[in-house]
Amino acid sequence: RLRREEKAWKINNLAKDFFQSILLQHSEAAAAREYIHGRGINANIIKDFGLGYAPASWDTLMKFMQSKGIGVSDLLKVGLVVSGDRGVYDRFRSRLMFPIADARGRVVGFGGRVLGDGLPKYLNTAETDFFSKGKILYGLDRARQAIREMRYVVITEGYMDTIAAHQYGMANTVASLGTSLTKEHGRLLMNYTREVIIAYDADAAGVAAAVRGLDILQELGCRVRVLSLPEGKDPDEFLRARGLDQWKRQVENATPLVEFKIQRALAKYNNGPLARDAVLEEVLPALAAMPGELEKNEAIRLVAARLFTSYHVVAEQLQKFSNSNR
Ligand code: UTP
Ligand code: MN
Ligand code: MN
Ligand code: MN
Ligand code: MN
Repeated sequence: RLRREEKAWKINNLAKDFFQSILLQHSEAAAAREYIHGRGINANIIKDFGLGYAPASWDTLMKFMQSKGIGVSDLLKVGLVVSGDRGVYDRFRSRLMFPIADARGRVVGFGGRVLGDGLPKYLNTAETDFFSKGKILYGLDRARQAIREMRYVVITEGYMDTIAAHQYGMANTVASLGTSLTKEHGRLLMNYTREVIIAYDADAAGVAAAVRGLDILQELGCRVRVLSLPEGKDPDEFLRARGLDQWKRQVENATPLVEFKIQRALAKYNNGPLARDAVLEEVLPALAAMPGELEKNEAIRLVAARLFTSYHVVAEQLQKFSNSNR
């Protein structure tokens, strides 16, 4: 098993270097270099994140690998080539390539972005035992030291968000690659910190994904806060438009989970007559999951204040909820 994984890491690493040499040197990658430049990505980031370019042809990578003694069956296993109607061919073509590494920097897969508006926008390595987005946080290998030093992590949705954050100096940033956070993501992070800031896109998909991830992280014992960007924006766009200082302010002002839930529930029930009970019901699970007594008490006080009721009413409901979920 380990032998097989080692082989896969080696092949992926070779592919990473190959894609990068094409991006940096090949005339066919001129449009890709232009694209990267247009998005404000600098040369250091290209090196640090191992960005590359997969050319248009159906077999450039396959031929390169064969010249290194790596055969089709191994390439099929790591998902760099696929088998279809036209035989076996390179999976990634005409795409900007983002190597995806595990926490120790071993390349386990790739994401490839079209340069224009084609679909899918990002093509990723197919899910296998060996590569699963639910178990990988993009950028963690480059972020983990900064996460330890800064004592919190910022989780974004996308490749570009994490790359922008690192370029601007917030190296404690990773990406969940569009998927909601999983228990495995949470456990991975807890090797480094329990302080988590979710910075997903300010669109319906991003908010929905964030909401699904929050409880999972809290149940694992993380302290979760939610950063909310102006409607429609993502961290990459925000950083490049407004700069690092304003981004840091967003991070500092991120909303604690319980407060975030109150706000959402209040908006949902439109502050109507039934709002208090309904909001309480939605917030109780988050309260119950809070690890520290001190924090929990503070949160109970907050909920009480926001719902114009007393500490005792909220505490009593929480007690009932906790008893019924024993
Ligand atoms: P977004 O659609 O927000 O993309 O998806 P983005 O990162 O902002 O991309 P740019 O800025 O337009 O280049 C967020 C993440 O979801 C995953 C990718 O990991 C992406 O970074 N995703 C998105 C896919 O895997 N496939 C897709 O087709 C789209
Ligand atoms: Mn998005
Ligand atoms: Mn984006
Ligand atoms: Mn986005
Ligand atoms: Mn987008």
